[in-house]
Amino acid sequence: MSLLKGEGGTNFIAWGITGSGSFIRKSFEVLKRIKERYGVKITTYASRAGEEVARMYGILDRIGEISPGRHYEELITEDVAGASCTYSGRFMLGRYRLLVIAPATSNTVAKIVYGISDTIITTIASQALKGGVPIIILPSDATEETEVPCYIDRERCTNCMECIDKCPFGAISELNCIPILDLMKCHGCRVCELTCPEKAIFCFQKAKIKIREIDRENIEHLREMEGVTVVESPDQLEDVIARTLGESY
Ligand SMILES: Cc1cc2nc3c(=O)[nH]c(=O)nc-3n(C[C@H](O)[C@H](O)[C@H](O)COP(=O)(O)O)c2cc1C
Repeated sequence: MSLLKGEGGTNFIAWGITGSGSFIRKSFEVLKRIKERYGVKITTYASRAGEEVARMYGILDRIGEISPGRHYEELITEDVAGASCTYSGRFMLGRYRLLVIAPATSNTVAKIVYGISDTIITTIASQALKGGVPIIILPSDATEETEVPCYIDRERCTNCMECIDKCPFGAISELNCIPILDLMKCHGCRVCELTCPEKAIFCFQKAKIKIREIDRENIEHLREMEGVTVVESPDQLEDVIARTLGESY
């Protein structure tokens, strides 16, 4: 099914990634299915933290599956857009049918609620609201479960150092006779996890987190904002995007 409706760019949607480990991998799968199902073109915008976290969770290296780099299908980072977010005019001009921010960190949610726009994601959110582009937001910190990036379990690790040579990105090095994983170099490829002879490396394990009262309050404020739809899970995200796109055709 194609949403192409002649002129006007209404088959373009924007996806905003913030620096949240919760839901980042599932949000990627949702956007990929939406692209395949509706034939939409997706521009991906990533905050500085979003770019880093997307890399750690293996999403950055797969971003071409969603935004292959053609016009309106670019990956736009803070470095590309600059401090003023030079691409935000697209939202004012109504080029996008929809802005999806998934996942949205507590930081980004708080800033949107209080009208702060000092990152690429908070700037496009503000411009989308001014330009009448609907926003769908999946806050990361509304549930008690998260996913942690790759880590070495010290209880199991025997310091054999095999992982150092296995990592294709040089993210593991030796320090004082123990292997150290540098998340700033990690691409979440899981080669270390798969090849560790002691099964001492874990990637994307589930972990429990407490929901802060301030986050609950901010999410409630977000729900009250005109033009914003808040969703609670990746499944709901997919349903709401599908419904929103379906309604316009
Ligand atoms: C591996 C990792 C996972 C993170 N996960 C979350 C998260 O689930 N929720 C959150 O609010 N912040 C999370 N953070 C912290 C944010 O990245 C940090 O607050 C950042 O400043 C958010 O910036 P942004 O909102 O502009 O993307 C995480 C950081 C790291 C390194």
